[in-house]
Amino acid sequence: MDDSPIEAPRPLEPRPKAIIIGASSGIGAALARRLASEGYFLALAARRGDLLQDLRDEINAQGKGQCLTYSHDVRQAEQAPELLQRMLRDLGGLDLFVYCAGIMYPSDPERFDAEQDLEILQVNLLGAVAWLDPVALRFRREGGGHIVGIGSVAGDRGRRGTPAYAASKAGLHTYLEGLRNRLARHGVTVTTIKPGQVQTDMLKNAPQVRGPITAERAAELIWRAIRARKSTAYVPARWRWVMLVIRHIPSFIFRRMNL
Ligand SMILES: NC(=O)c1ccc[n+]([C@@H]2O[C@H](COP(=O)([O-])OP(=O)(O)OC[C@H]3O[C@@H](n4cnc5c(N)ncnc54)[C@H](OP(=O)(O)O)[C@@H]3O)[C@@H](O)[C@H]2O)c1
Repeated sequence: MDDSPIEAPRPLEPRPKAIIIGASSGIGAALARRLASEGYFLALAARRGDLLQDLRDEINAQGKGQCLTYSHDVRQAEQAPELLQRMLRDLGGLDLFVYCAGIMYPSDPERFDAEQDLEILQVNLLGAVAWLDPVALRFRREGGGHIVGIGSVAGDRGRRGTPAYAASKAGLHTYLEGLRNRLARHGVTVTTIKPGQVQTDMLKNAPQVRGPITAERAAELIWRAIRARKSTAYVPARWRWVMLVIRHIPSFIFRRMNL
């Protein structure tokens, strides 16, 4: 719920407005700080309300952006439409929507755990669909707006250590591509972000860590992709070429590799 003791912006000072789902830590929190530095009025959601409140206090104290926070578990997909309406009322509109919520369990080729895998799909993919459909409908009616989904390079190939995570991100990429093709004619931009390794809590679960960038650097590159209204952006850009090679490795070789 909104527990933010701040006033709405005055009409003579219109601010761009954004929602970030999954903003309590890592890339989402860094992006919230980056958007706030551009003067955005933000609605931030995640489960850990204490972290969100600290972030809200930090952003509101700096005085450039403004911030409201909402406790929400994306596994409660049925709550998304109502919470979206509340955020829209509180913000007074919407220009940018970012779905960043995601989970990954430690990579383990010997683990076959349906409960865990279904949870990954619920958070990374089904939660995204629950939010993005009503957001897309609103932007389509308004004839404008910008949707951003945080996918992953992991969605470009099925790896033996994390099949459900890879599938959740591949599904998200394809869903976003379909939304883009559906909404482009209505003036709506849809951007798919594919980060490589970023130094956040999630990276503890990665099988190998090779040259990660900071969450702040990732947020800067995501902001540039938003400003440029890109369709797809690898973050950082070098992953485009890494994944081009990885995508072309024949399956019979890829399955023997430790990737
Ligand atoms: N770090 C990387 O190397 C990397 C690489 C590629 C893609 N990504 C993607 O980047 C996104 C952000 O991850 P991160 O690296 O910044 O890790 P993180 O610090 O663990 O952030 C994950 C965010 O998702 C939220 N979240 C998780 N489960 C949720 C739920 N059930 N309901 C609502 N929010 C939920 C978390 O908030 P609460 O826990 O407070 O709910 C948190 O804000 C994810 O989609 C991830 O897949 C990360």
